[in-house]
This record gives sequence, C-alpha cells and structure tokens, in this order.
Amino acid sequence: MELKEALLKRRSVRKYKDIPVSDEQIDELLHAAMSGPSACNKTPWEFYVVKNGPTLDSVKKSSLFSRFNSSLVIVVCGNTERALPAPITEYWVQDCSAAIENILLRAVDLGLGAVWCGAYPQARVGCNLKECLTLPDSHIPLGIVHIGYPEDTPEPRDQYDPERVHFVI
Ligand SMILES: Cc1cc2nc3c(=O)[nH]c(=O)nc-3n(C[C@H](O)[C@H](O)[C@H](O)COP(=O)(O)O)c2cc1C
Repeated sequence: MELKEALLKRRSVRKYKDIPVSDEQIDELLHAAMSGPSACNKTPWEFYVVKNGPTLDSVKKSSLFSRFNSSLVIVVCGNTERALPAPITEYWVQDCSAAIENILLRAVDLGLGAVWCGAYPQARVGCNLKECLTLPDSHIPLGIVHIGYPEDTPEPRDQYDPERVHFVI
C-alpha cells in the first residue's frame, strides 16, 4: 500500500471481528514501532503485548475510554532509565508517540484496524496499568493501542485545512 493511502485510510477503529491477530503480524507491528525516530536515538520505549487472556480485560478497564472488543492491545511505555537526562527527559513522550503512530499506520497496511487510547498524563490510568501489568517504576504507560480486524471501517478522510498553514518568508 502506498504511504499516502495508508495515511488517509488510518482511522480509529473501535469495533473488531473475532479473529486473532497472528504472531507474524504482531512482529511486523513491533518492527514498525521501533523503526520510529527518537531524540538522540535513545529509543526509550517498551512494548507490553497483551493477547486474549486474563490481563486483557483489566488493561481495557484501566481507562474509561478504552473498553473495546479487540483481542490484542499493545501498551506503549516510556522507559525513564533509557530516556535523556533532565531537563529533556520528557522527549520520551514524543519518541513513544512516534512509535504508536507507526503501529497505527502499519496496522492499516496489514489490513488491520487500531485505536490509540491515551494513558499518560492521566495519573489514574497510569496507576491502573502499572498494577495490572506489574510495571517497574521506570516504565510509564503512554498509550493503549487496540488492534484487530475491523468490524467498523470509518471512511478515509483528509482533514487538510489551509488556514492552519502559515508560510513564512
Ligand atoms: C493522545 C491520544 C489519546 C486518545 N485517547 C483515546 C481514548 O482514550 N479513547 C478513544 O476511543 N480514542 C482515543 N483517541 C483517538 C482519537 O479520539 C481519534 O484519533 C480522533 O477522534 C480522530 O479520529 P481518527 O483517529 O479516526 O482520525 C486518542 C488519540 C490520541 C492521539
């Protein structure tokens, strides 16, 4: 698939078919995630892959806005032990966001759907995830990515708005 097509086709999918995502597809998604840019190439990310099982439900319930019927979630965390020192430690947020966007785009490319549900900076969601995934203190959950075969396929759309573009000479 052309990148431009994937960019326009990527929409948040919140209803999934009852078909599992294969281990090969998961591997592709993780390769895409880790090919993203990161400040000073610190790659301060960790990926918790949660397949159908007892933990999946508690991960979904960790946020009020993440209760979808996917059979796979990837919780993307920043690793503060790998992050840059203060005062630019928080670049891990941007690094992990780039990784998530890569997962979303590769999912489209593989014929899958996905939605990014926010965790950080919601303290309560972060605490819930830390508990159900037994995360070490250095792993801070940034987002929960649901992935699966789409039941609902939102229309591709182009949100281009020329008024938001500021050419400067
Ligand atoms: C940081 C971030 C947090 C988000 N959190 C949620 C969420 O908790 N639940 C949800 O259903 N969608 C969530 N979304 C998805 C947005 O609602 C969605 O991207 C937006 O409405 C635009 O729709 P589209 O993705 O179909 O283009 C989040 C997206 C981002 C980037």
